[in-house]
Amino acid sequence: MKVAPSLIASRLPHGMLLLLLAAFLSVWTIEPAFGAPQDQERWNHKYDTDNYLFGRDPIPFLKDHIDLLPKGKALDLAMGEGRNGVYLATQGFEVTGVDISETGLHKAQALASEKGVPLTTLLADLEQYEIPPNTFDVIICTYYLQRDLFPKIAAALKPGGMVLIETYTMDHLQYRPTFNPAYLLEPNELLGLLPGLRVSRYQDVDDGHTAFASILAQKPH
Ligand SMILES: C[S@@+](CC[C@H](N)C(=O)[O-])C[C@H]1O[C@@H](n2cnc3c(N)ncnc32)[C@H](O)[C@@H]1O
Repeated sequence: MKVAPSLIASRLPHGMLLLLLAAFLSVWTIEPAFGAPQDQERWNHKYDTDNYLFGRDPIPFLKDHIDLLPKGKALDLAMGEGRNGVYLATQGFEVTGVDISETGLHKAQALASEKGVPLTTLLADLEQYEIPPNTFDVIICTYYLQRDLFPKIAAALKPGGMVLIETYTMDHLQYRPTFNPAYLLEPNELLGLLPGLRVSRYQDVDDGHTAFASILAQKPH
């Protein structure tokens, strides 16, 4: 027997109707998860401006710990416009940056030229990209959360190599309620994502505008 939706609604208590409406609206307003092609289009579009959306300076957590990083080959995953990778290049690292947005990578190259440092960029989808194992002294990944990358990052480090990660936590929802929670870190989650590596530094920050966690960890020699 078919029942008209209006009939179902009329038989539900009002409280229940309000709850259903709230659940529907919250799902509707969360920023959707995108597949790689849409992500590429979306980021190319965002980066298509003369401004550097994330600025041209490195994140403080990278700058503050630069002296702890072993010199050599560095990989910047989801490099974007290059603020962190180009900084590493200015500090003498041989940097490769990977991103799905060619517009972002062009801006990273422009920033590297302006600073007079070499930079290798690679246009790739990190959901498909195979990171070569045992290759890098340093790997960084900032404000891009793809949980299945963590074991690949650990495998791609040379013994003694270091990884630096920073991205938003669940606390960030208070500043940006529509952020898709699938891409936000749970409390202390970063501490459990790199088993086998030794944590050198960890922070969980809420500065009143943004909430994020950062980790620096080392693969054993
Ligand atoms: C919030 S930005 C962060 C950029 C940079 N790491 C920074 O902190 O300035 C996220 C970056 O992830 C890239 N991205 C999104 N999906 C990707 C994918 N599947 N593969 C590679 N890069 C991706 C976007 O193009 C964008 O540059």
